[in-house]
Order: sequence, then structure tokens, then C-alpha cells
Amino acid sequence: MKQSQEMFDYNCLVHKARTRFHIQPGINFFLTQSDKKQMHAFLLTWTALSVSNTQPVEGWIRRAGNKCIQLGYNKIGQRLVDHSRQEADHDKMLVEDLEVLVQLWNQKYENKITTKELLSLELPQSTKDYVTLHENVINSDEPFRQVAIEFEIERISVNYGPRMLESVMYSLGREFTKGLGFLAEHVELDVGHTAFNLRLLDSCFKENKAWVNSMAETGSTALNIYGQFLNDCVVQCQKISQQKLDLSEVRKLNQNFIDQFADSIQ
Ligand SMILES: [Fe+2]
Ligand SMILES: [Fe+2]
Repeated sequence: MKQSQEMFDYNCLVHKARTRFHIQPGINFFLTQSDKKQMHAFLLTWTALSVSNTQPVEGWIRRAGNKCIQLGYNKIGQRLVDHSRQEADHDKMLVEDLEVLVQLWNQKYENKITTKELLSLELPQSTKDYVTLHENVINSDEPFRQVAIEFEIERISVNYGPRMLESVMYSLGREFTKGLGFLAEHVELDVGHTAFNLRLLDSCFKENKAWVNSMAETGSTALNIYGQFLNDCVVQCQKISQQKLDLSEVRKLNQNFIDQFADSIQ
């Protein structure tokens, strides 16, 4: 599909937030952490805390759709309402994964843990911010901005998901694939969902070109919050791993990188 001028402008505006997301420590931890205990503790935390980000998704999309219909944007609203059903019960996949990950943890480590404990972890500020963002969008007079949130977040599964899966499988082992059902399913499902979001974004811009700015702002905010959520998962997982996070390799790499550039520029 040829990219419309509005879609191009939207992508330019949101590009800064996408770049910022890419260099956040949380996403990089997910993709590069090689310490098995740290990675396992991170997966437990990320899977447990993701339940609160995922459980309301179906309702958020449906309510945003209904609000669009109420404001007279019938086509956009109806497509959102129809699409919402495809997100039903995805939080249940996370709970199933969590059970597998907890079982593996208890086989390997001394400090035993339960699924119930993990599901009652205190929610980080980023999760609260994620809920607030959706509620603000739904209750505003621009509820179609829900499409921008979905587009940016589901794009993460498509763009980063395969690397996330590789990172876990090859550093922790094949047995962990059973605890990655949610991620593996979303790598596949969100290809279709992202194509759907892209078409819907374009329909929104056809409805009103002036929506590009507020869509990009909302999409950027969603990315910033999700990037922070992954950072929060790294911080919270230290309580489970009960070992000091070794950042010496990262520091060494960065220092070498800076030195090399400094040398060649001088
Ligand atoms: Fe989903
Ligand atoms: Fe999805």
C-alpha cells in the first residue's frame, strides 16, 4: 500500500519516540541480558505485570469505538468495536505462561515463589500511567486516538517480538518456549493487527487531516510509557533475582564505543 502524505507525516512525528524507545534500558535488557537468573526473574516480573496492561484491552478498544459512534464517526467506531473481540482473554495466556515460568524457577532456585505472589506485585507507576492514558483518550472528544496507541504498541510485537523470543530461547533454553505463549502468539497475531491499525489510521486521516498531530502525540506517549514499563520490570525483578545486576560489560562496551569515536574524531 502506498503511504499517504498524512501517514508519512505521522511516522515522522512519532519517530523520535520510537528511537527513544529503542535505546531504553528495559527493552535492551530483554534483548541482550545473558545472565540466566536475571533473565528468568525479568520474565516472571514482565509476564505478571503485563496482566494489568492486557486484561482491559478488549474493553478499552470497544469503549473507544462506542465513543466514536456516539460522536458520529460511525465507520471508525464500528471497526474498533469489531476489532475489540480479537483481544478478548489475552491476559489468560499470560497467567498460563506465568505458571510455567514459576514452575521452572522453583526447580532451579532456592528462593521459591508462587504465581499468586507475582500476580499481587505492586503495580509500577508506568502501569497506572498506561491505564490513565487510555481512560483520557476514551473520555475525550478524540477517542479515535485509541488507534494510534494500538498501532504503536502492537508494532512492538512485530518489530521486537522475534528478537525477544530468540533472546530468551537461546539464553535460557528450549524448555522456556512453553512459558512464552503470549509473546509467540502476539508475534504472529500482531502482524495482522498492525496491518489493520495501519488501514484504520489512514481512514482516520482521510476523515480529517488535522488529526495527524494529536494521533502522533498519543502514539508517542504510549511508547514512552511502555518503554518505562519495561524499565520498571527490570527494577522490580531485582527483588526476585536477589543478586546484584552486573552492568560492567555494558559500561565497558559503551566506554569502548565512546573512546573509539573520540580517538577517530581527534
Ligand atoms: Fe493481544
Ligand atoms: Fe493484538
